[in-house]
Amino acid sequence: MNIITNASDMQKTMQKYKSEGKSIGFVPTMGYLHEGHKSLLQEARKRHDIVALSIFVNPLQFGPNEDFDTYPRDLKRDETIASEMGVDVIFYPTVQEMYGEELTVSVKVTNRTDALCGRKRPGHFDGVATVLTKLFNIVLPDEAFFGLKDAQQVAIVQGMVEDFNFPVKIVPVTTVREEDGLAKSSRNVYLLEEERKQAPQLYQSLLLAKESIEEGVTNSSSVVSLIESHIKETTNGIIDYVEVYSYPQLKTVEQLSGKIIIALAVKFSKARLIDNIIFEI
Ligand code: PAJ
Repeated sequence: MNIITNASDMQKTMQKYKSEGKSIGFVPTMGYLHEGHKSLLQEARKRHDIVALSIFVNPLQFGPNEDFDTYPRDLKRDETIASEMGVDVIFYPTVQEMYGEELTVSVKVTNRTDALCGRKRPGHFDGVATVLTKLFNIVLPDEAFFGLKDAQQVAIVQGMVEDFNFPVKIVPVTTVREEDGLAKSSRNVYLLEEERKQAPQLYQSLLLAKESIEEGVTNSSSVVSLIESHIKETTNGIIDYVEVYSYPQLKTVEQLSGKIIIALAVKFSKARLIDNIIFEI
């Protein structure tokens, strides 16, 4: 397994693979790999000759009061996992390598961002879109794999790839969960013991909401109230948002129909957790 820190070396390596007729599957991450990342790598391994993994904690997508400095980092551990998963090449650049002194051009997301995390984290998806534009141009993948745990990210990246005609196919991958239903996340390590016990209730509340829809509830405000009361009753978390939209357009739907996403974000003392379910009515 090759670890490359220089963007132009990475691009040359990938160009060489392409000239040999090899297909490339790409998994962009911020590292501290867990089962969620592993399922993306597994999918990429199944479908491609070459699997490229990037590990880069992207400062552009963190707000001033967010956890850029404390975001968990452990390259040695990530290397072991990557090698077990059959990764061929890791791209591991520094911030200086990616952004130099300053950027002349960056990407601005103009749609699908006035909802969910986009509304709560201004500039976050601009940072994601900018780094992915660079990474797609450096890695030159045929397919890139993204987790539906970050469903808004998938919707925005899909929009960006269509709008800018990137020659890459976005492959969404189902959320990987702990046995008790908590969505796997690098940020789960921040949860206090008591909070870790309560955290599975977030997914439970989404399942209750889905059940209520299957039993005939048709308006999103009832669904939101049901989820909010469940979370308040069963956790000490502070609700950041509970929202229902069409997916992937992320438009408001008062009467529920078609493909929808129910998504939430809840703040615990040191971790903000997100989760969602997407289904067709
Ligand atoms: P990161 O949070 O490291 O996540 C990398 C990828 O792993 C994302 O596509 C994310 O949706 C996926 N993932 C995380 N938890 C998952 C889970 N429990 N099940 C399935 N997939 C999961 O998302 C980012 O990094 C960054 O925004 C990035 C795309 C790398 C751009 O900087």
